[in-house]
Amino acid sequence: MSNYTPRVAIITGGAQGLGRSIALQLAKDGVDVAVNDLASKQELLSEVVREIQGIGRRGIAIPADVTSEDEVKGMIKRVADEMGSVDIMIANAGIARLSLLIETSVEELESVLAVNVRGVFLCYKHAAIQMIEEGHGGRIIGASSLAGKEGFTNAMSYCASKFAVRGITQTAAKELKASHITVNCYAPGFIRTPMTTIGPGTAEENLQSIKEKYESPQAEVGEPQSVASVVSFLCKPEAHFITGQSFNICGTTRVD
Ligand SMILES: NC(=O)c1ccc[n+]([C@@H]2O[C@H](COP(=O)([O-])OP(=O)(O)OC[C@H]3O[C@@H](n4cnc5c(N)ncnc54)[C@H](O)[C@@H]3O)[C@@H](O)[C@H]2O)c1
Repeated sequence: MSNYTPRVAIITGGAQGLGRSIALQLAKDGVDVAVNDLASKQELLSEVVREIQGIGRRGIAIPADVTSEDEVKGMIKRVADEMGSVDIMIANAGIARLSLLIETSVEELESVLAVNVRGVFLCYKHAAIQMIEEGHGGRIIGASSLAGKEGFTNAMSYCASKFAVRGITQTAAKELKASHITVNCYAPGFIRTPMTTIGPGTAEENLQSIKEKYESPQAEVGEPQSVASVVSFLCKPEAHFITGQSFNICGTTRVD
């Protein structure tokens, strides 16, 4: 039997959007939280840490680039040393680039795969090594997408990367079962975050324009808390029998 207890979580890409909501939800659940993002997001990161501390939990900011194996290893070691353990890894950091297949450059494809696939792989790998060493089981959760279940116009690189997250998740779930580590991912549709609302127009105009570029103009739009609530449940001890899954969080945008 696992003696998994959700005490300490790492969340990558946690300065804003889904990562920030997940960090605050886990803090409300009684978990201490290390929040990662790029060094350029230091100010936002510090704000999230202050919010975590305001909830009454320990929070630390860890600037690091998840595409670098050394930086991911350093991040996990620092959390284990300073916070006592690594019980939960949320490999949330991701980027999106929009272009048609025939206009996508190799550089664009590789930049998306670097963050969304290599970054997720490195976070899963080194969190799993740490959790196995600590010997108490754990939770690893990654960011896939509805774009990891079907292709969308203008989103070849992004779709390829999010399909890959599901493959990594399913494999890791089987390999880490004996170590009492569950591995799942979330597959949101359109959620209102900086990723879907930043652009030249108002937030609503930008969201609509992104939906149109994906040829999904009627898609329902959700809020980050819906994703944070699913993650919160998956991190609880009673979710031990759920692994290898990817959860649609998208209203009726896709039902299956
Ligand atoms: N918002 C949506 O509609 C939606 C839908 C499906 C999946 N997702 C996925 O959920 C995750 C979070 O999305 P979001 O909407 O909050 O995006 P966002 O752009 O608002 O936030 C992502 C964060 O990741 C960080 N990041 C990027 N590259 C990084 C790197 N190399 N190292 C560390 N941090 C890095 C960014 O700085 C940013 O703060 C992403 O993986 C995204 O692909 C989002």
